[in-house]
Amino acid sequence: MMWCLLCLSLMVAATTAKKLNVYRKPEDRSPTFIIRDMMKIESDAIAQKRDESTPIKITLQNNQDAAYTGKLSLGGNKEEHTFFFDTGSPWLWVALDDCTSCNWPGVNPYTPDSGTNKPSSKIGNATYVDGQFATGNIATDEVRITADSEPITMNIIGVSEAHDIGNIPADGILGLAPSPAKNTDLFVTQLHKQGLIPDDMFGLEIKPNGQDSFITLGGYDTERVPDPKEIKWINLYNKDSWWTEFRHVYYGDTILSSKGGLVVFDSGTSITTMSENILYAIINGFYTKTEGQSCTIKQFQGLDLWHCPCIGNFDDIGISMNGYMAFLNSDLIIKDAGQGECAIEILPAKFEGDNDIILLGDNFFFDYYVVHDINGGKIYDEDSDTGMRIGLVGNIVENDDGAFGSVISSALAMLVMATLFLN
Ligand SMILES: *[C@@H]1O[C@H](CO)[C@@H](O)[C@H](O)[C@H]1NC(C)=O
Repeated sequence: MMWCLLCLSLMVAATTAKKLNVYRKPEDRSPTFIIRDMMKIESDAIAQKRDESTPIKITLQNNQDAAYTGKLSLGGNKEEHTFFFDTGSPWLWVALDDCTSCNWPGVNPYTPDSGTNKPSSKIGNATYVDGQFATGNIATDEVRITADSEPITMNIIGVSEAHDIGNIPADGILGLAPSPAKNTDLFVTQLHKQGLIPDDMFGLEIKPNGQDSFITLGGYDTERVPDPKEIKWINLYNKDSWWTEFRHVYYGDTILSSKGGLVVFDSGTSITTMSENILYAIINGFYTKTEGQSCTIKQFQGLDLWHCPCIGNFDDIGISMNGYMAFLNSDLIIKDAGQGECAIEILPAKFEGDNDIILLGDNFFFDYYVVHDINGGKIYDEDSDTGMRIGLVGNIVENDDGAFGSVISSALAMLVMATLFLN
């Protein structure tokens, strides 16, 4: 299942993959194994009556480097449920016990507590790529970070019908996009408004297996980032998503792609995905024409990926955006696939509209601590202060390719907005 939860109908089709199985199928691990693993999750979160002046840090479970999950408690009965933490979508939804189509492996549906769960007649519809959706009545309910913590009251979708949501290692999805969908609330914003966290902000550390992954709600982790100057702030293109404009794609000093477009930060995308022409330009950066001729598409860990000869050392891929350059680490992108071949873990895609798009997925996040600031930021354009920005800690350098400007046509922006939140 392709976990690109933001791009929705934007992504028409992957050029190579018939089915985008980005959530890797367990090869040596049965689903029950994964579920047992998930039950071991412990939250470092808060005790009762917390001091709201400090952020809350929660450990996230790594599901095969492809999906990051954590727990929340729902309702007055404080039922504990597992959620897929997705920065690419805005909805908080949970499978309900009467949902017959919510039958993916390991799902543990929610039994609403009539004392706290107040369904409305409004329908919420969380829609994802490839026609996947989860829909049901929007209800007000209590949500807690642990069973012991104080609740917030917010709108969630109680899902009574799910289509093709197979394989998420969770009972629902916690959307962490910066703007709410119609009739729904943002979890982090509500935690802030209702006084449980100091700021409308969160920091995300996603790491490969064997290293800790965590989210810090209400700020960023000051142990992980002791000096705030380490955070390089990038203003958002607009508030609809965690995205900005990119100018150029570099390999060393060489510009591979100068058309520019949108770059999206999405923890719900496992494998970085981009317009196919950018990927082809990158392969042309890695290889000479002769070497590149032996590149072919093959299956690797359930994905159709480009396989090329494993030769030499590769540089990182630079992406210039809003005054900075961040990098796709070649060690995280190029994987030994055996027999002298390397798989390039970037999925080529076709998107609607004229503009190129780069969806930075988990294999980008592995190299960065990413701060998501919903209410702090400054703006690319004084007339439209989005007040939102993304902060990167890691391999990031200043770059003078320019700040926001002309790259993205406003027609595209409209299209993107229209398709993002369909409900
Ligand atoms: C939810 O969205 C999907 C995909 O766009 C659509 O097929 C489905 O009919 C919608 N369901 C409701 C209840 O609106």
